[in-house]
Amino acid sequence: MNGSLPIVRDVAALRAAAAAWRAGGKSVALVPTMGALHEGHLSLIRAAKARCERVVASLFVNPRQFAPQEDFDRYPRNEAGDAALLASAGCDLLFAPDRAAMYPDGFATSVIVANVSTPLEGEFRPHFFAGVATVVTKLLVQCSPDAAFFGEKDYQQLLVIRRLARDLDIPVEIVGCETVREPDGLAMSSRNAYLAPAQRAIAVELSLALKQAAAAIRAGRPIAETETDMRARLAAAGFDAVDYAAACDAETLAPMADLSRPGRLLVAAWIGKTRLIDNWPV
Ligand code: PAF
Repeated sequence: MNGSLPIVRDVAALRAAAAAWRAGGKSVALVPTMGALHEGHLSLIRAAKARCERVVASLFVNPRQFAPQEDFDRYPRNEAGDAALLASAGCDLLFAPDRAAMYPDGFATSVIVANVSTPLEGEFRPHFFAGVATVVTKLLVQCSPDAAFFGEKDYQQLLVIRRLARDLDIPVEIVGCETVREPDGLAMSSRNAYLAPAQRAIAVELSLALKQAAAAIRAGRPIAETETDMRARLAAAGFDAVDYAAACDAETLAPMADLSRPGRLLVAAWIGKTRLIDNWPV
């Protein structure tokens, strides 16, 4: 327990709690997280609580979605602080398994979602979506929620999760929630904690470049030139590298052709050792 928030660490206890709620006629929501919670996560908890009577949050820093050279070891961890924040936002149960509970000896299964996983993050972090899809599938099967909540900040991830739930006939509503931003527009992210003050000042340019590009495309600037403009603006602002700055079809993530269908601008860029992503509708 943490304050009023019960914590379970094994799948049987999670299943028992969710089954008891369902037997009592209560709807159940799941909010998967890797901890290091901020206002963006808490907005997911509040949205889940508005939709369902009981809310489970999971906290698991999933090793399978980090490549060996990535930040798994330095990823911020603060379970007690996270539990207190979850309780204050109305969460009813925290599922915080350890690695052995999620990936017991002999674990050999991977969930691969084709097509929508391939571009963008799929190109620059080829291991990432198999790790996400595998752990999210497990969490959905373990908890059997009526609805599961994910932030649009990880827009491609949201599309991948929608696809896997549909393809695997998992009876859950996948709910995407709007990105929560700092007052200057920077998307909230657990990785913002890595930024030194001078880097934080550069980071805000990500959302400004997206906003400007969306307005430019709506005003008729050619899409390819707008993508080049975004890269140039980020480089000029002090980003050390831009993995992608792309205008895509909002549903398929194929390159955006024109304004006849909803589009999404997506960027990933590095400041020092920190990689930030963001996206914007167009
Ligand atoms: O977005 C995240 O925090 C993670 O990718 C998720 C969905 C919790 C899976 O580990």
